[in-house]
Amino acid sequence: MTSSAGPEGRIVSIERVGPIALVAVDNPPVNAASQALRQGLVEALEQLDGAEGVEAIALYGKGRSFIAGADIREFGKPPMPPGLPDVCNRIEACETPVVALLHGVALGGGLEVALAAHARVALPDTTVGFPEVTLGILPGAGGTQRAPRLAGIAAALELITTGRRIDAEEAVRLGLIDRLAAGAPRDAALQAAEDLRTGALPRRRTGEIAVAPDAAAIQATTAKLAKRQKHLFAPFKCVEAVAASVQPLAEGLATERALFQQCLDSPQRAGLIHAFFAERAVAKIPEAGATPRQIGHVGVIGGGTMGSGIATAALLAGLKVTLNERDAEALSRGKATIEKNLAGAVKRGKLSEEKRDAILKDALQTTLKLEDFSKVDLVIEAVFEDMDVKKEIFTRLDAIARPGAILASNTSYLDIDEIASVTSRPAEVIGLHFFSPAHVMRLLEVVVAGKTAPEVVATGFALARKLGKVAVRAGVCDGFIGNRILGHYKKVADYLMLDGASPQQIDAALEEFGFAMGPFAVLDLAGLDIGWATRKRLAPTRDPAERYVAVADRVCENGWFGRKTGQGFYIHDADGPRPNPEVARFIEEERAEKGITPRAFSDDEIVSRYMTAMIAEATRVLEDGIALRPVDIDAVFLFGYGFPRFRGGPMFYADTLGPAELLRRIEAYAKEDPHYWRVPALLRRLADEGRDFASLNKEA
Ligand code: 3HC
Ligand code: NAI
Repeated sequence: MTSSAGPEGRIVSIERVGPIALVAVDNPPVNAASQALRQGLVEALEQLDGAEGVEAIALYGKGRSFIAGADIREFGKPPMPPGLPDVCNRIEACETPVVALLHGVALGGGLEVALAAHARVALPDTTVGFPEVTLGILPGAGGTQRAPRLAGIAAALELITTGRRIDAEEAVRLGLIDRLAAGAPRDAALQAAEDLRTGALPRRRTGEIAVAPDAAAIQATTAKLAKRQKHLFAPFKCVEAVAASVQPLAEGLATERALFQQCLDSPQRAGLIHAFFAERAVAKIPEAGATPRQIGHVGVIGGGTMGSGIATAALLAGLKVTLNERDAEALSRGKATIEKNLAGAVKRGKLSEEKRDAILKDALQTTLKLEDFSKVDLVIEAVFEDMDVKKEIFTRLDAIARPGAILASNTSYLDIDEIASVTSRPAEVIGLHFFSPAHVMRLLEVVVAGKTAPEVVATGFALARKLGKVAVRAGVCDGFIGNRILGHYKKVADYLMLDGASPQQIDAALEEFGFAMGPFAVLDLAGLDIGWATRKRLAPTRDPAERYVAVADRVCENGWFGRKTGQGFYIHDADGPRPNPEVARFIEEERAEKGITPRAFSDDEIVSRYMTAMIAEATRVLEDGIALRPVDIDAVFLFGYGFPRFRGGPMFYADTLGPAELLRRIEAYAKEDPHYWRVPALLRRLADEGRDFASLNKEA
């Protein structure tokens, strides 16, 4: 983001039209409220408030939006006055009436500026909200005090603790916006100011409105947060701040300030803001300058778990999809899954019934003939994970697809170079690795093979954006970024289990760390049979020097594949999941067979081993150039593996420990198992040089 002013060179400019003063902010790309913008606003108000001949002032934004909020890059740095609370208080104190004209987005501090004005008018395209909580903070420029004054405590609490963004109509209904208007932002601002001047638009100082107490809403919100977000700091502070809005404004603002500072100082704030920038940083790839190809029609081969999810995602993004399967029964199963997914989108209010009907009628086609893919722009193959099957399909596809069509595989592990080698167009072959469920999970690993052309990579990234996904560039290796790292650290959970910790203790320790589910609960959810099949396939090539834990194999041998069969590591019945006693028996038997005396592990020790293993393999992924930067690994885990967002991702978390501490841990664990615990050369180098992983983000 550039912080230079807009095309006219001024971040805040004034235009006089008769008795009206128009104050425009222009800070591309999103009009973030940087120090220069804040300073410019205060100076403009000092000049205009009470000035001869100025009867009303209108604030509006040039470009795409009003104001997208505070400049997030300033958090964690020394404060640069004037602060946003000062700007808002100055607006509210104006003797001359001030109206805010909103368009595009008015988020966080942008909405707070508007709430401090004496009236608010919005164009219909406006989105407003308080995303602060998603960044580990709270609205700190009067939002927690002024929103309840306009919308009541219950509505303010909901918006502020969830960060939910709402459209202009809903904002009018809630009382946050006074009315809607039409036209270009400048013209609508002029009209709004004129209406304010004549009294056609009522003028109020928000801070003077009293707030009705609502103890029930505060209690209900606190209880909901305690149940669903107990790890998070900021949501609870948001509630405290909103609760203070029943006090006179000055006192409420002082409480808000103190709570805001607590959030600012919290490590969660740093992690969540890192996650915000990580989502955007991963788009900065060497191929970013290449022109993506137009994708309007996607062919999907295989309508199983992944193919049907990928097809759903493409349909929801407005693309045409042709689905291919190997027989009529599988094809109709695939189509039924897509219909079910779309029905789910209708139920969640993400898709209208008419739109769903139109998609099913016009955008989705099914076929048993691969020949029907002769006109598609992109094919995504999602058949069984078997190199021979994939090679056969790519050979046929290469002959059928039109020149220029991109051929992608959704393989989880297999070598994209080898798949590309059977085609006459390796430059147009790429891995597009979606995560299950593909229409929900936001991660897309774009796997770049040796010969993949830059514009094909750029097309993968453009497609991800269209699908609302976060694309991360990965190189070719077994499992790419995410699954390769997962393949390594999940062994630690097995070792801990055999050496003394129970699956439940391991799950609970990692859930307490912040993962939505522990590793054994995830296995039960995903189905144990998938991993079992892979282990059997890889058995002949297994390194005999590596520890192997057979407990999961024993579970599978009993036909227990997790939730879908009613039992796995846990028993899943009407009483909810509970430990499977048979698993405890398998563990004891394996310990006895291998002469292992169980020992106690603290929860901290469990987390330490699990996270250290994850970071160690992630470091090797960096060394091998499979991920471009540490931030790419963070994004993979945040958007594809349920990594706790407030911890910023594995590499961000690694820096909170520091390379020297990680090195110490690996060396200590290596005394027990030197084969598994090896120090990555890059980690040793960082520790020796006193550097952190973040320095590699800047270097790249
Ligand atoms: N501060 C600094 N940079 C910001 C920013 C902000 N508030 N919002 C966006 N940017 C940057 C992005 O990092 C990106 O930079 P890059 O090009 O170098 O990667 C650039 O602006 C464009 O952003 P997007 O790629 O996200 O553009 P979109 O058009 O997809 O989305 C948006 C625009 C809806 C404004 C989205 O960027 C967004 O949601 N931004 C965050 C808004 C937010 O959280 N505001 C609250 C801030 S906290 C606050 O106000 C505290 C207050 O209460 C005191
Ligand atoms: P699945 O078994 O649910 O679906 C595969 C489908 O492919 C089946 O419906 C099958 O009938 C069809 N198929 C097989 N051969 C075919 C052919 N020659 N022509 C047309 N259709 C054919 O498998 P799933 O889980 O959807 O996996 C598919 C691919 O996606 C695999 O490569 C897998 O590694 C990968 N993947 C799987 C993930 C998961 O969580 N299940 C996640 C990410 C990738």
